[in-house]
Amino acid sequence: KRYGVIMAGGGGTRFWPLSRQAMPKQMLNLSGKDRMINETIDRLHDTVEKEDIFIVTNEKQAAKMLECVDGRIAKDHILAEPSARNTAACIGYAAMEIVKKYGDGIMCIFPSDHFIKNEPEFTKILNQAVQAAEEQDKLITIGIAPTFPSTGYGYIKFDKNENAIARKVEEFKEKPDYETAKAYVESGNYAWNSGMFVWKASTILEKFAELLPDIYACLTTIGDAMKTPDEDRVIQEVYPVIPKISIDYGILERSDDVLVLSGDFGWNDVGSWDMMKVIYDEDAEGNILVGDHVNIDTTNTISFSSGKMIATIGVDNLVVVETEDAILVCDKNRVQDVKKVVDTLNEQG
Ligand code: GDD
Ligand code: MG
Repeated sequence: KRYGVIMAGGGGTRFWPLSRQAMPKQMLNLSGKDRMINETIDRLHDTVEKEDIFIVTNEKQAAKMLECVDGRIAKDHILAEPSARNTAACIGYAAMEIVKKYGDGIMCIFPSDHFIKNEPEFTKILNQAVQAAEEQDKLITIGIAPTFPSTGYGYIKFDKNENAIARKVEEFKEKPDYETAKAYVESGNYAWNSGMFVWKASTILEKFAELLPDIYACLTTIGDAMKTPDEDRVIQEVYPVIPKISIDYGILERSDDVLVLSGDFGWNDVGSWDMMKVIYDEDAEGNILVGDHVNIDTTNTISFSSGKMIATIGVDNLVVVETEDAILVCDKNRVQDVKKVVDTLNEQG
């Protein structure tokens, strides 16, 4: 049996003012086609049955999430976390839910905020990953050929000459510093970790027991309460004290039975406004204009209107975003700092 698990607990503060606490990035429709969460679900159509897909999200976002997915996912498959404890907790909780309530099987785990251009190729690689996980009790990762020394990704070292579809991971390094990332990319021996994982629910729970025993203890307490009248109470009590660590630092960096399938399917982590360039084509002046615009002598500018007309004159390298109640004007080189606006607003309360 195969299950899909979509991790959708992130805030996406770098997409302010379009993303808000009540409308995080994964619920946004950035592509003009559908919300990122729905694109993530629909992309699995050839791999997992819709009724076997789970979404793990914050309890504050669960009701809104149910609305956003528009009938795709049933309420009892939206797992609500009382607080965000990072991806190890999120994956452990889903694994426990699957084992206790539905029966062990292959979990295909996805972030909810990625853009994938070539769906047929993605499906092909994903299905190969599932097959590898069915055949071996290993942790399967999906790697992407790196294009620049990003310090925001995990790096996977493997031997390109190994004659297998799923190759042995020699080293997994989460978010290296710039110099290290640069050396990795130049060496040609590393792939980016796409953040998508495939493994048996029981296999990952064994890894928790071995490598993250504190988290495993919390998960077992929660698991023991599942299908009893105490389930909700125990989750409310135990979940908020689960240690916060990502699956990458907590398990993948520390396991020696990780495999990688490398893929080229137009993958992008849509992390900030400048990444609109992976969804939309730039015009001849390097502009991306979404919505109503008049632009005169404007170059290299991303301009996103949610309703009102945006006019720009004689500007270069800007990001302009208009929503009903806020406007962002930002130097394109400073898009990472958009989260500082959110921090400031949060401080002001
Ligand atoms: N439910 C839930 N709860 N989801 C969470 C939580 C949580 O506490 N924390 C993060 N997520 C979700 C995010 O919404 C996102 O979809 C996914 O899990 C990954 O979390 P990020 O916070 O975006 O991770 P990252 O980008 O820093 O790093 C990961 O992804 C990279 C590729 O995009 C790592 O796996 C890297 O190794 C990888 O390269
Ligand atoms: Mg991310």
